[in-house]
Amino acid sequence: MFAQIDRIRPLLSPMVQNRVDEMLDVVDIMTEMKNPRVLRSMAPSAMRGLLLKSGKRGEVSEMPANHQAHFNWNYPHDHPQMHALYERAKLGQWNGSSLAWSTPVDPLDPRVTLAPLDMIDLKVAKKLGITIKTADHPKMMHDLSSWLLSQFLHGEQGALMAAAQVTESVQFFDGKLYGATQVMDEGRHVEVFHRYLSEKLGKMYPINDNLFVIIDALMTDSRWDMKFLGMQIMVEGVALGAFSFLYQSSTEPLLKELLKYVIQDEARHVHYGVLALKEHIADNLSPKERDEREDWAYEVALLMRNRFMAYEVYEDWYGGTRVTRDQWRQLVTNSPGMLRFRHTMMTRLVPNIRDIGLLTQRIRPYYVKSGMGQYFGGLAAPELTGEQMIAELDQSRMA
Ligand SMILES: [Fe+2]
Ligand SMILES: [Fe+2]
Repeated sequence: MFAQIDRIRPLLSPMVQNRVDEMLDVVDIMTEMKNPRVLRSMAPSAMRGLLLKSGKRGEVSEMPANHQAHFNWNYPHDHPQMHALYERAKLGQWNGSSLAWSTPVDPLDPRVTLAPLDMIDLKVAKKLGITIKTADHPKMMHDLSSWLLSQFLHGEQGALMAAAQVTESVQFFDGKLYGATQVMDEGRHVEVFHRYLSEKLGKMYPINDNLFVIIDALMTDSRWDMKFLGMQIMVEGVALGAFSFLYQSSTEPLLKELLKYVIQDEARHVHYGVLALKEHIADNLSPKERDEREDWAYEVALLMRNRFMAYEVYEDWYGGTRVTRDQWRQLVTNSPGMLRFRHTMMTRLVPNIRDIGLLTQRIRPYYVKSGMGQYFGGLAAPELTGEQMIAELDQSRMA
């Protein structure tokens, strides 16, 4: 089918070409998911996110939630490590209003880097037949940075809702107390990213369809461990990588300050996810249930690595012109800054998947085939605090 469409593609108007390409992309995502069980479980969310574009149709989305709220009237101290995280989280609270908001930010100032310039590389663009004038490049990078930070913001809103849900449904009482601090953290993250976008960048993009699908899938799943896996491990793990990448490459002091605080919170969140899931996966799940989660995590990792193509920026710049979505996809896929970005995200994510027991010999060959075998040996969240992470990032930046 793809070959036939490729033959007739040049005969279509740019507008129709792009529409066809968009539909093929959806088919491509669904066929890339090799596991029928994962495909079935993601299908309703994919329908809402990719086909109905529910995240872009209006200002609000309603998602049905039907998980169990778990109460315990004995208030046990049932998880010392979660309790220690709770104590650390209380001490680590900070006030978003106290950041240096008076810092002037000019997103078009060539002396200041938000997202690094080679995330949209001019040489790669030229090779692909896309002409980007040097004078337009800062404007495009401003848009790309706004897009990236908008996705962070939307992800944070997902995290806020998911943290509230997992606080209700988690079985450990120490986990509930810790969860309450995470709800506060996520609220603060929404506050600071939204403020930075509105006051400093002056532009906000809608939620990316694939991010919507992942958030929809975990919000509507009634199983608490799937919410943990989806939000605390997958979304937060990838976000931690993305924040680290930007922290390391940006030279804008307010953004760096904001990210430094957010990274330290997120490191705790991922740590909590690992603590909650490690025991549960080892002790409570049948082999079939474990395999299901292992397959799901792999498919979502692939989706997150391969499918954030900034099409919303493409629409702004090229929608309906001779530059096709396919050319844009290749530009985003092959620009050196984007390669580093994806690498950093996977460096943070894959070791946590390993640590919770969802990287067995059964699934490893698939990761290796997808080029993710290099991340198997990295440090997982319990081995790396937020403070250590920041120190490491500062050090590698100076090197
Ligand atoms: Fe967050
Ligand atoms: Fe978080």
